[in-house]
Amino acid sequence: MTVTETPMGFGRMHRKEDARFVRGQGNYVDDVNLPGMLHGSFLRSPYAHAKIVSIDTSAAEALPGVKAVITGAVLETLKLAWMPTLSYDTQAVLATDKVRFQNQEVAFVVAESHYIARDALELIEVEYEPLPVVADAKQALAPGAPVIRDDKEGKTDNHIFDWSAGDKEKTDRIFAESEVVVAEDILYPRVHPSPLETCGAVADFDKVSGKLTIYSTTQAPHAHRTVYALVAGLPEHKIRVISPDIGGGFGGKVGIYPGYVLAIVGSIVTGKPVKWMEDRNEHLTATAFARDYHMRGEIAATKDGRIRALRVDVLADHGAFNGTAQPTKFPAGFFHIFTGSYDLEAASCNVTGVYTNKAPGGVAYACSFRITEASYLVERMIDVLAFELKMDPAELRLKNLLKPEQFPYTTPTGWEYDSGDYPKALRLAMDMVGYEKLRVEQAEKLQRGEYMGIGISFFTEGVGAGPRKHMDILGLGMADGAELRVHPTGKAVLRLSVQTQGQGHETTFAQIVAEELGISPDDIDVVHGDTDNTPFGLGTYGSRSTPVSGAATAIVARKVRDRARIVASAMLEVSPDDLEWEKGKFFVKGDPDQAKTIQEIAMAAHSSLELPEGVEGHLDATTVYNPPNLTYPFGAYICVVDVDPATGQVKVRRFIAVDDCGVRINPMIVEGQVHGGLADGIGMALMQLMAFDEDGNHLGASLMDYLLPTSLECPSWELGETVTPSPHHPIGAKGVGESATVGSPAAVVNAVLDALKPLGVRHADMPLTPSNVWRAAQGRPIRT
Ligand code: CDP
Repeated sequence: MTVTETPMGFGRMHRKEDARFVRGQGNYVDDVNLPGMLHGSFLRSPYAHAKIVSIDTSAAEALPGVKAVITGAVLETLKLAWMPTLSYDTQAVLATDKVRFQNQEVAFVVAESHYIARDALELIEVEYEPLPVVADAKQALAPGAPVIRDDKEGKTDNHIFDWSAGDKEKTDRIFAESEVVVAEDILYPRVHPSPLETCGAVADFDKVSGKLTIYSTTQAPHAHRTVYALVAGLPEHKIRVISPDIGGGFGGKVGIYPGYVLAIVGSIVTGKPVKWMEDRNEHLTATAFARDYHMRGEIAATKDGRIRALRVDVLADHGAFNGTAQPTKFPAGFFHIFTGSYDLEAASCNVTGVYTNKAPGGVAYACSFRITEASYLVERMIDVLAFELKMDPAELRLKNLLKPEQFPYTTPTGWEYDSGDYPKALRLAMDMVGYEKLRVEQAEKLQRGEYMGIGISFFTEGVGAGPRKHMDILGLGMADGAELRVHPTGKAVLRLSVQTQGQGHETTFAQIVAEELGISPDDIDVVHGDTDNTPFGLGTYGSRSTPVSGAATAIVARKVRDRARIVASAMLEVSPDDLEWEKGKFFVKGDPDQAKTIQEIAMAAHSSLELPEGVEGHLDATTVYNPPNLTYPFGAYICVVDVDPATGQVKVRRFIAVDDCGVRINPMIVEGQVHGGLADGIGMALMQLMAFDEDGNHLGASLMDYLLPTSLECPSWELGETVTPSPHHPIGAKGVGESATVGSPAAVVNAVLDALKPLGVRHADMPLTPSNVWRAAQGRPIRT
């Protein structure tokens, strides 16, 4: 698809930011080099659970070039040994009493170079006393299991929380009277967001001004600034967080990691800027994981396939510190959206969180807070039911999908879906793939002993957190600001609280202003990722940028337009009510020749033109957008695979993705977002697992073991779209960044299991690696 000119608003447009990225001129945290900068590196624990008996840092301190060796004991004197997590838990910045997961941070060396710092790590002597390890969520709750968080007063087990949603009584009643009940144990394994760029920070504390500048890989610069102020007791206005170009976040750069804190402490202690940058091994083993949900799903239905109720029990493995990212009220995130896209009478769920000797986190990896787990669960359960009822899974879905006239729709667990036409999206996907014909081909192939599978998933995402009265992170309400300045010559600068990590915000947000004001996107700069120069807001994750800051942008542009109307009325000497807006200009009603362009109006707004009483000059405006509800994008995905049960090899032959994210600002960027998410889904479904042995040793600590999908594993994606605008979003847009990651794993897994259906396989857990597919085909338990 070629793009020849810049649209004056929505439409396909090359990304403005690519001008620097394709030239290798991006500016990432690791590109930041300040005069006199030192380098920090961590000593990490080889044990998953061990008492620290002693730490001797004297040899490391004596190494030439070493400027400081910081241990937990040093941090204790500064009251910084522990920090709060996003879930109101505490996390050790450096271990003091004991280590609780393998590769936990034990000491931090600051030196003249990264190499000296790494050499010094080897000179630190730590005496450990190994303790029994709990690496399995189920064992964590067993009586007599070693207590991981004995730092918490009175804690005698590994239980974190119990949380439930839905109407249990009604659900149980329907289950008791239903004709068909099917249950399945389903694991969403521990996976890792694994962006191209690992986490890092450069901290620069100026002792004279007391100003702390932190360049860091953060998706939420403003929230980080507030947390640093609260934790370190530094005045917030003296902290500047700069998030330069970010090489992918996927939820993994929302939390605050010990490295950020240690870079700050290192800079305060040495008086020099300090850089900390993780390597891949550290990133995979110690920075936040995702998922790790052990789910038991039950579905109640009639014999002819009307689904009546869902019941779910979850054991959520949160690792050694509860650092999961989600709004405060929701300890299991938005998991209770697990009723998915279906019209059910009742649903209930219980989620129990547990500590294990594994890395902390539980990030919303390319999904809105646990919706991926929820969507995977319901889509697997639908196929399990289809298996038992011997029904076609597409027919079963069409029978139970919500109908367009049911919107806005309130789910049995309390979510209000804004808009949708689900059957239309699924029928479109079925038409695109040629569903009937494929089923015929599948049957013919089976006759020849060839196993082909067709997997369907239908998902509903909920994106755009707040509203602030329901959603906050560490007490900070989820509403975001936007500020728009229009210069005298009609060029504009938009300042936002969200932070792009590769999604193309510099382009799409300029397009929203262009759509509203008729200024070319080329003439609009988007500024973000710098707390000194942008309005406060909670940042980018959970596909919230378009639903929240996209709305803020449209509203602030409309405020500018309202101001422009008054200036234009003064210029044309008519009442503001006598003016009409056509993209880019105001004209006098009934006399289109009497017009002023937005550029002319901008100049007049800064000139000596006499304006009506009480009207200030300039067109600049600000706003804060508090979303009334989430937006609910949805989609229908169909995956076609060929499976060789003898070798376990899976070939993804086709993948059809019909997405509905409401109005598309830049269809080309939307398609790119979907492509990435689909690849993610293939990775999770077929390749990825953060595995541990029983001693808590990490078995996937490099990209040789933890496999990321490449173009070789991916087919040429076939994309379709329907457009159901969000009724409450000013431009009718819904988020899309994470839709494909949410929807695709179930389609791939359902396809593989559809292929294995003739062998009697009803369910097998991800990742469906060749050995696991082979084991499933043999009727053996698979390995996770
Ligand atoms: O929060 P995040 O940027 O990760 O996700 P998003 O809001 O879904 O947006 C991802 C990218 O797709 C951004 O550049 C959006 O502006 C763009 N987008 C779009 O062009 N049209 C939509 N309806 C939704 C997103």
